[in-house]
Amino acid sequence: MAIYYEEKNKIFRLDTKKSTYLIGLTPEGYVGHIYYGDRLFHDVDSCLLRMEEAPFTPSVNKREKSAFLDAFPMEYPTGGIGDYRESCLNIRNEQGCMGSEFHYVSHEIYKGKRALEGLPASFGNEDEVETLEILMEDPVLEVSLVLCYSAFEKENVITRNVRICNHGKQTLKLEKVYSACLDMDNEEFEMITLCGSWARERRIQRHELHYGKQSASSAKGESSHQEHPFLALVTPGTNQLQGKVYAMNFVYSGNFLAQAELSQFDSVRMVMGINREEFCWNLRKGETFQAPEAVLVYSGEGLGEMTRSFHDFYRNHMIRSPYLHKKRPILINNWEATYFDFDTDKLLAIAREAKKSGIEMLVMDDGWFGERNLDNSSLGDWTVNEKKIKGGLKHLVDEVNAIGLEFGIWFEPEMISPDSELYRKHPEWAIQIPSREATQSRCQYVLDLSRPEVQDYAYECVAKILRSANIAYVKWDMNRQLSDLGSSWLDRESQQELFHRYVLGLYRMQERLVTEFPNLLLENCSGGGARFDPGMLYYSPQIWCSDDTDAVERLAIQEGTAFIYPLSAMGAHVSDCPNHAVGRVTPFETRGHVALAGTFGYELDITKIPQEDRDMIPRQTEMYHKYHELIREGDYYRIASYRENNSYDCWAVAAKDKSEVLVTYVQVLAGANRHSRKIYFQGFDSNALYRLEGTKKTYSGERLMKMGFLMEALTGDFRSRLYHFVKTEEYH
Ligand code: GLA
Repeated sequence: MAIYYEEKNKIFRLDTKKSTYLIGLTPEGYVGHIYYGDRLFHDVDSCLLRMEEAPFTPSVNKREKSAFLDAFPMEYPTGGIGDYRESCLNIRNEQGCMGSEFHYVSHEIYKGKRALEGLPASFGNEDEVETLEILMEDPVLEVSLVLCYSAFEKENVITRNVRICNHGKQTLKLEKVYSACLDMDNEEFEMITLCGSWARERRIQRHELHYGKQSASSAKGESSHQEHPFLALVTPGTNQLQGKVYAMNFVYSGNFLAQAELSQFDSVRMVMGINREEFCWNLRKGETFQAPEAVLVYSGEGLGEMTRSFHDFYRNHMIRSPYLHKKRPILINNWEATYFDFDTDKLLAIAREAKKSGIEMLVMDDGWFGERNLDNSSLGDWTVNEKKIKGGLKHLVDEVNAIGLEFGIWFEPEMISPDSELYRKHPEWAIQIPSREATQSRCQYVLDLSRPEVQDYAYECVAKILRSANIAYVKWDMNRQLSDLGSSWLDRESQQELFHRYVLGLYRMQERLVTEFPNLLLENCSGGGARFDPGMLYYSPQIWCSDDTDAVERLAIQEGTAFIYPLSAMGAHVSDCPNHAVGRVTPFETRGHVALAGTFGYELDITKIPQEDRDMIPRQTEMYHKYHELIREGDYYRIASYRENNSYDCWAVAAKDKSEVLVTYVQVLAGANRHSRKIYFQGFDSNALYRLEGTKKTYSGERLMKMGFLMEALTGDFRSRLYHFVKTEEYH
C-alpha cells in the first residue's frame, strides 16, 4: 500500500520506493507538513508539526493564533489570516475582503488517479499509483478545497493539485491559486533553477538560498525561454551522485511562479503555481476551479537520481503519443535550408537527395501559406500558396511519398498577422487593449484563444490541411509572447482570466488534434524552446529544444533540458556551418553526436552542403538506427559538464538492464597538453564485464566507474567520440 492514514496519530503517509511524505492533522484540523525525504520503514510521529513550542510573540497562550499560523508548516497556506509567508490561495469575497481559512473535513484514498478537467496531467493505472484527496472547508466563505496527492511508487514521484469549489451564493475572486507548497526546515539549501533567453534556453543556475523570497517565474503567457517552471532545493555538496534534492516541476504551459522563501524561523517554504500576476478568477456559485498539477521528486542520491526519476515519470505517466516507444522518423526540415525561399521543385530536390542518405521524412517549415514570403504577413490565412507549392499541397505530399519519404508540415495556429485576410475580417480576434495600438512582436499579434470560435477557427485551419493530404507530422509553433492583455470576448470582470483561459484554449485545441489524428507525430515548438514543459509533453512526445543548433551551444541547452526531460523529448538536428545562430564551424561528426542525444534529424540544404558532409549522412542515419532505442528508453547519466569544467562534456545512456552503455564525449577546446583524460563513468553494472565495440578490449563496470576510463586526447576543437560498451559476462 503506497498511501494510508494512521488514525491514532492522525498522519497520512505516502510511500514511494525511496521516499516518504507525511502529512499531519492538528486537533483543530489544520493540515500540516511533517516530513518529505528518504523512505521510512518504521512507525512515525508528528513531532515536526511543533504544536507545543513557544510562539514567536511571547504569549501566555502557546497557541496564540497569529504566531502559530506564521510558523506552522502548512500543506496549503491561505492568505489574509496571519501566515505572512507566501500564501497559496487568496480569496476575496463580495465585500472586497481577502481572507480564507480551511480545516480538515474528510479524506479519500484510492488506487489509480483521476484526470484533471481541461488540463494535462499525469496518469497511471491502479497498480502504478495511489491517490489521497483531503477535503477541507471554509464555513465562512462556504468554499471547499480538495488537496490531491498521488504517489507513483516506482518512479519516486508525488504529484499534487488542488481544486476549489464555491458552495455559497456570492461570486468569489480567486486572486491566487498555487498548486503545491512544501514547508521544510532549512538544510543550508542551495537553489537550482533553469534560466536563459531565446537560443540559450534552460541553463542550470545554482546559488545559496538567502532570507526572503527567491523565485523563477513567467508572466509572458507561456512557460518561456527565460525562466522555467522548475525549482530544486539541494543540500550543500549535492552533485550527480550524492546529496538531498527536493524538486518541483509544473505541468502547465503558461505563467508560473516557482519560489523558495527562507523565513525568520529558518524554515523554508517552496511553492509552485500559476503566477498571480494578472490572474484573477471569478468563482461563481456552484463552480469549481481546478489548478494544474505539480510534480515533486525527492532524491537522497543526488541530481542524477532526480533526473532519472523525472525521465521515467514523464515517459511512463505523461507522454501519451503512440510514438513514445516508437522510432521517430529521421526528418529533414527546410527552415535553415531555405527560410522562406522555397517552392515545390526545391523541396523535391531536397527530398530526393535526402532519401539517398537514409533520411525518412521531409518537413516543410514556415512560408507555404497565404502570401508569406517574409515573417511579416499571413498568419491566420492557412491556405496553400500555390505560387510556391505549385500543383498544390496534395501533389507535393504525393511526390514526396513517391520518393519514399513521409511528409510533415509547420503551423503557427495561435497567431494573427496584422497583414492578413483574417485580421482584416476579424480584428477583434487579436488580443488587444481597446483604443491602444497593440505591441507587435515578429510583426504579429496573438489570437484570443479564450474565445471558443477562435479556437474552432484555428483548429479547423490545421485540421483541414491535415485532412487534405497524407501528413504524418506537425510542428506546432508559437513565436511571440503575450502582451496588451485585452479580450473583446471576456467581460470587464473576467479580463484577468485571459492568460489562463488562453492556455486552456490551447490545450483544448491540441487535445482535439491528437484525438482526430491519433497517429500524428506532433512536435511542439515556441521560437525554439520557449514552451518546453510537461504540459506540452502530454500532447506531443517531442518539443523543439532551441533555435540554436550549434553543437557547442547545444551542450549546455541540452544538458539543462535533459536535467528534467527525457532525451526522447528533445528536438535536436544537425545543421549547416557556419552555424546560423553563432557563426561557429564544428565538425559534421560532432554535430551528429550532439543531435543523437535528442530526436535526431537535419536542418540544412542537403543539395548544397559540402560533399564530405553529405557523405557522412548515411553513416549518421545508420548510427541513429542502431542507437535510437537505447537513447529513447535508457537511463541517462551526466558524467561531466562543459558548463562547469570549461573544457569538455560527457554523458551516457545505459540500457535499463545495463546490457549496453553508450558514452558520448565532446571536447570543446583542444589544449597543447596531449595527455589522456581520466573520466569516471556512471551507469554500468559493476559486476559485469563490457566489451568496447570496435576494439578487442574488455573492461569491468567497476573499473570504469571506480578507476575511470582514459579518454584519448583529441586534436582540434569541437571533436567528439562515441563509445559503445556491450556487456559480455557477469561476475557471480
Ligand atoms: C521559430 C522556430 C523555427 C522556425 C521558425 C519559422 O523560430 O523555432 O524552427 O520554425 O519559427 O518561422
